[in-house]
Amino acid sequence: MNTLIAYGTKYGCAQKCAMELAKELNGNVELVNLKEKGIGDLSRYDRVIIGGSVYIGKIQKEVTEFISANLDVLLKKEVGLFICGMQEGDMMEKEIADNFPAELINKAKSVMNFGGEFNFKKMNFMEKVIVKKISKVSSDKSDIHHENIKKLAMDLN
Ligand SMILES: Cc1cc2nc3c(=O)[nH]c(=O)nc-3n(C[C@H](O)[C@H](O)[C@H](O)COP(=O)(O)O)c2cc1C
Repeated sequence: MNTLIAYGTKYGCAQKCAMELAKELNGNVELVNLKEKGIGDLSRYDRVIIGGSVYIGKIQKEVTEFISANLDVLLKKEVGLFICGMQEGDMMEKEIADNFPAELINKAKSVMNFGGEFNFKKMNFMEKVIVKKISKVSSDKSDIHHENIKKLAMDLN
């Protein structure tokens, strides 16, 4: 069983989650940061897990482009989807629906919110302003949903 985890990240949270997920999955797991490397042929993978983090409602464009370029193939594979973000509830549901094609969400064996973290040392000035204004948070916060990482792995294993 060969699994690809293809992810987008800006400050490393989605990467950290992807690595935690890789440890939970059976078989061979390959991790690819879509911002660093493209992926050619998907035929060697039995399962493909795709995820990324959300900034102002949008996942990394490399993630969206990877999905658009491979949608036909992905619809024939076992797929898992995840998002990292600090929204919860209906807002997070909307972010998932806005950032992945509906047919892929319907086909996916598992779709999970992995939570996220705010790391003020890594943010630029404007990002700090946005986070303080919108989330009313002004110090580092970590809210990774480890249980959802495990759940996605269980759903696919
Ligand atoms: C400027 C800024 C905007 C953000 N916008 C959103 C958002 O619209 N929705 C959300 O759920 N999380 C939002 N977040 C939270 C990030 O998704 C969260 O910090 C995530 O863990 C980042 O993952 P990364 O380190 O993999 O990029 C935002 C964070 C920053 C700094």
